Amino acid sequence: MKKQQIFILILITSILLTGCQKNITNLKLNSPDENISVDFALSSKGQPFYVVHYKDKKIIDTSYMSFDFKDLASLKDNFKIINTATAAVDETWAMPWGEQEQVRDHYNALIINLEEQSDLKRKLSIHFKVFNDGIGFRYEFPEQSNLEEILITAENTEFNLTGDHTVWWLPGDWDNYEHLYNESYFSKIDALSKRDNPDLAATYIPENAINTPVTMKTADGLYLSFHEADLTNYSDMTLKIDPENLGMTSELVGSEILGGKAEVKLPFNTPWRSIQIAEKPGALIESKMILNLNDPNIIGDVSYFTPMKYVGIWWEMHIGKSTWDLEGSQDMNTYTTGKKGSSKHGATTENAKKYIDFASENGIKGLLVEGWNTGWDKWINTDDREGVFDFMTPYPDYNFDEVMAYASEKNVEVIMHHETSAAPRTYEKQMNEAYDFMKANNMNSVKTGYVGKIIPKGEYHHGQWMVNHYHHVLEEAAKKEIAINAHEPIKDTGKRRTYPNAISREGLRGQEFNAWASDGGNPPNHLPTIAFTRMLAGPIDFTPGIFNIKFNEYKTENELNTTLAHQLALYVVIYSPIQMVADLPEHYMENGQIHPAFQFISDVGVDWQKTKVLDGEVGDFVIIARQEKTSGNWFLGGITNEDTRTANLSFDFLEPNEAYKAVIYKDAPDAHWDTNPEAYEIDELELNTTSTLTIQLAPGGGFAISIMKK
Ligand code: NOJ
Ligand code: CA
Repeated sequence: MKKQQIFILILITSILLTGCQKNITNLKLNSPDENISVDFALSSKGQPFYVVHYKDKKIIDTSYMSFDFKDLASLKDNFKIINTATAAVDETWAMPWGEQEQVRDHYNALIINLEEQSDLKRKLSIHFKVFNDGIGFRYEFPEQSNLEEILITAENTEFNLTGDHTVWWLPGDWDNYEHLYNESYFSKIDALSKRDNPDLAATYIPENAINTPVTMKTADGLYLSFHEADLTNYSDMTLKIDPENLGMTSELVGSEILGGKAEVKLPFNTPWRSIQIAEKPGALIESKMILNLNDPNIIGDVSYFTPMKYVGIWWEMHIGKSTWDLEGSQDMNTYTTGKKGSSKHGATTENAKKYIDFASENGIKGLLVEGWNTGWDKWINTDDREGVFDFMTPYPDYNFDEVMAYASEKNVEVIMHHETSAAPRTYEKQMNEAYDFMKANNMNSVKTGYVGKIIPKGEYHHGQWMVNHYHHVLEEAAKKEIAINAHEPIKDTGKRRTYPNAISREGLRGQEFNAWASDGGNPPNHLPTIAFTRMLAGPIDFTPGIFNIKFNEYKTENELNTTLAHQLALYVVIYSPIQMVADLPEHYMENGQIHPAFQFISDVGVDWQKTKVLDGEVGDFVIIARQEKTSGNWFLGGITNEDTRTANLSFDFLEPNEAYKAVIYKDAPDAHWDTNPEAYEIDELELNTTSTLTIQLAPGGGFAISIMKK
């Protein structure tokens, strides 16, 4: 990987020992532009705490940090500062694929080495990095004679807010991120009201806590987003809410088997706790701070994966046209049906060939086939899911070799599918052989899945045990040159910088909910919220591009709550190097011809040189422009919530003295997400850097523009 270092200055100040200790009990660290400052100090009891300011306004009030352990005294107070070190870093690195090619990593750092003054003399170091777009801090448990292995029962990192902010939050579910984001004042957060969601195959919300990323807006219009980076060998951090005192405290996901939150051997670093800070919400999306808090690529060349769009035998199972299993016993993906139906198996040789033909005729590179392997007849509605799936054996009506040969002839790359039904031990047993089987068949990426309660009982999707499983999958896959697109994953914390084979993931309420959710599907404000919340964590396999918005032929009680133009815009708004073209091939046809709006899907890029958020407001709307890496062409996507909206666009990001041909795909004047969702218009015009354009977005609508050099 190319790593370009513009300027680097490291300044280590190793200050004193006991003698003038008082002089260094108050420490300050500024961002390079000096807008953000972190103050760190020890209280009179020797408790570590920090405070954060943005342009002299306090945004995080005195917030303490401590740990509780099993069979050990808490690490909490009675500390002294042994010494400190600082660094100033400004370097640039390149992403193999991404929202942009070059990423600037620019921050000031401070390490504070603490030691208990008690007989135990345990050591703890706290690392801070302050960027122009936010802060990160992590704890280091250095190697020490008094401490070898610890079972952490609580990490108590406080984030005390300075106002009753507007918050876009998800409940702190230990098993699931597939909730809608909720908007409320901080003091009104009620995660417990989100328990017992009938559409979730696994859900556990133990207390009033929220998950991250969580985005907030202060009364004076500043945006904050709390998350974590480099979640490795630890458990997911939820944030426990104290509504009266406007405080949050880290609450790690636990394990009944472990009897705690995380078991670690020293030396050990926790993940980074991060706070993004921005005056404009779009700057949260443009920020690369979470990636910068992760280590550089350690797996080397990843050119075996190429960013691509893909079709799949997928949506047809979700809307009930076909089934994953052979017999039709799992009729659709409510995860709750158990009725035997007539066989309408989706993954047949013939059907796969139909999708391959469609992909090759329309310039789509990939094909995903779900339901190709044995096990689907027993994958849900049972606790007995160990040993169910076989990742090498196709169903009898799916001639694996014939499909692979046909795909290769048509230049289509087949993506593997491994649904584990949340039985990771079964997967770990087979995975090496399964990856060899993939490579022997020229398959370079796999979509994994973890539907259901984790086996063994007592572990949760977001606990340390599963974090380690997801990590193990990435490592083993990397050794075999395989890329992973995980569904029901652990949340993204920027590990794709270190493991670029972590190409994408779900970890949100995806398109599938529109096919079967009992609450009527994703509301129009879903993706205008996701762009400023979940998407701050990393790429999303949302599976956009549904054209048959109501699919009444299959189901009358479910539909998408967006317009067709909104679906097109998602190829730009939602970042992923692997983007599904999710609808049935026949839904992209109109009077025997490919639908005119499909041209945008054929043209749009999946790998970007640059990304610019042109405008937006959390939960309301967002407009993003991205420049394709290989062609230099620009693509724009804009989406709105249930409100109609006028977008006033200017194109000053285009190269001067260049003329471009633009194709605009937009809502028709009478379009509406509910009453007229498929009404669209296409305009063509010439654009240059001085052009301006006004586009009307329908309720639940959107627009997409391709801008190609003439
Ligand atoms: C849930 C995934 O999110 C979905 O995309 C997939 O079709 C099913 N699991 C079956 O694996
Ligand atoms: Ca899912």
